[in-house]
Amino acid sequence: MPFEPLSPAALVRSDRWPRGATGLRYGGDYNPEQWPREVWLEDIALMNEAGINLVSIGIFSWVLVEPREGEYDFAWLDDLFNLLHDAGIDIDLATPTAAPPAWFWKKYPAARPVNREGVQLSGGSRGIVSPSSPEYRRAAANITEQLARRYADHPALVLWHVHNEYGAPISESYDDYSVAAFRIWLQKRYGTLSGLNEAWGTTFWGQRYGEWDEIDAPRLSASVTNQTQRLDFKRFSSDALLECFIAERDTIRQFTPDIPVTTNFMATNCLSADYWKWSREVDIVSNDHYLVAERPDNHILLAMDADLTRSFAGGAPWILMEHSTGAVNWQPRNIAKTAGELARNSLSHLARGADGILFFQFRASRYGAEKFHSAMLPHAGTDTRAWRDVVELGATLARLASVRASRVRARVAILWDVESFWAQDLEWRPSVELDHRERIEAFYSALWNRGVTVDFAHPATDLHGYDLVLAPSLYLVGPAAAANLTDYVRGGGTLVVSYFSGIVDEQDAVYPGAAPGALRDVLGLAIHEFRPLRENESVDLSDERSGSGWTDDIHVSTAEVLSRYLDGPAAVGPAITRNSFGSGSAWYVSTRLIGHDLDSLLGEVLTSIGMSTEPMPGIEVVTRTSDRGDFTFVINHTNADATHPATGTELITGETISDTVTVPAGLTRVVHSVPTETA
Ligand code: GLA
Ligand code: GLA
Repeated sequence: MPFEPLSPAALVRSDRWPRGATGLRYGGDYNPEQWPREVWLEDIALMNEAGINLVSIGIFSWVLVEPREGEYDFAWLDDLFNLLHDAGIDIDLATPTAAPPAWFWKKYPAARPVNREGVQLSGGSRGIVSPSSPEYRRAAANITEQLARRYADHPALVLWHVHNEYGAPISESYDDYSVAAFRIWLQKRYGTLSGLNEAWGTTFWGQRYGEWDEIDAPRLSASVTNQTQRLDFKRFSSDALLECFIAERDTIRQFTPDIPVTTNFMATNCLSADYWKWSREVDIVSNDHYLVAERPDNHILLAMDADLTRSFAGGAPWILMEHSTGAVNWQPRNIAKTAGELARNSLSHLARGADGILFFQFRASRYGAEKFHSAMLPHAGTDTRAWRDVVELGATLARLASVRASRVRARVAILWDVESFWAQDLEWRPSVELDHRERIEAFYSALWNRGVTVDFAHPATDLHGYDLVLAPSLYLVGPAAAANLTDYVRGGGTLVVSYFSGIVDEQDAVYPGAAPGALRDVLGLAIHEFRPLRENESVDLSDERSGSGWTDDIHVSTAEVLSRYLDGPAAVGPAITRNSFGSGSAWYVSTRLIGHDLDSLLGEVLTSIGMSTEPMPGIEVVTRTSDRGDFTFVINHTNADATHPATGTELITGETISDTVTVPAGLTRVVHSVPTETA
């Protein structure tokens, strides 16, 4: 269904949080069924040593709880519940529905998903089932009910973890159940076949439908298939998974209405679920994050992922449900974390709003697909850097307990709409150089380097609380979003738009007239032709910057030309423009700027809104605020000591800071400053 905007205030849910511990939550996935009971006792003693107060259990335990259909064995799980509770460790109980048992696959083979190539995938892995299979939905509802009945009153249960990473590793299934459900979804969206034919533009290439049952999933064909159909199938697939979540959540709520329910997102790393929509259905947003180990700027991408997660949570505290203590096992080269990186990563998530820091997983597995994945307790045991780091992080989080429930405030927002990714990433776009994520990362990184804290926002939500909004190559902008962005600027906001934004509506149909149809008026210009560049071609601008990838043939109406192309296919036309519109202004950047050129431009934009900033590479500064004062996190990602202006008490060392905090190389400092009126 089309996105219905909610104001950020409406998105801020009533502060639901696991009952119990008043400080921060610390722990991880715990899968003890892989070991004999004496190991559980050792694990739990070690958890106490590390200060762990929350573990996620049962994520992949379906067959152990329901060894045969309709037969249950709770003895081992009862025992685990009691052992954890006796040790003061709270439980985040998972529904195990991401990994149905072998008996399920044998009895219900039609629940197996089919990929776009037409291959029916088998069970035996995880995260893989047709979400529209009635057999699956029935079995999932049943195991969820059994668990909820059994543990509803157990005092250790403080949180529900429904399923695991919906949408990963696959989200779209082309099986018969899904095709049938897709047709129903389309009937709801369009009402009539003629509505659908019009929305999909089916007159092109003679694709018009005469009956609903002629419509199929957008399977692989000889060439490009209907692009609106592709886009709708992505919307449908996200909704089908969301229905599975809602069904489990509602089953749970019948038994434990007061215990919050979450499911672990993968903010920037899963583009198959529309998390703005999902965020309204969970009680607490939780997220899994893994570094792209080989990228030297992976700490910036981490920050971006955390900021996006906080934004999905409407600013409310969220839980980092999984990250890793060291290397993962599923990347081409699984690079170990360097000394201090575990703590920096965790504290960066904390700085950006996470009030729970959890890992995958507590004890490293000896068997199975993930035996080479790092863990809190590695194969090598406790006399290791990993374990010492885990224990130290537990102590650090205890010292930071007062940070709990404070909020991050951002004056700048970057627009994020997964539908725009979905649409732009389809085939036959004007250039392979067009890359929505690349532009988002570039703009985000430039702001990170200047210490500017960023929220992400859906383009149709109320943006008036932000001084600056950035649209880095936001290809799909529906009419509601276009009106919203126009209003935002008219009301005094500053909008920065980069090339190939606002080109199509939510049907992936080009707006009539010159590009960018959704933003032409607010930008005060018209693009008569796209002038993409050749591979490795660059163009010089009159402001001494240079661009690559893309240029436009721009004709300004009301916009002021800030710089022109000196060469290339758009010479000597406008390259960067600014339009005064209402009480605000809208900038347009028609080429790919990187490095210093992008940084200096954003520096000018920030100056124009009264935010004076300086680049401070490698130093991450974020402030969380509450009525107890400000908590300023300074994370030093460099090899040299750094200083930052601050006054208050440093919470990790206990030092009093009178005007400057010194942060040793690779470490983090958190300065708590009490509000002046109560100081
Ligand atoms: C071929 C086809 C046309 C059109 C063009 C596009 O020539 O016959 O229908 O698709 O390619 O370049
Ligand atoms: C995902 C899953 C976990 C585990 C980790 C490994 O996040 O949820 O079960 O497989 O990946 O990195």
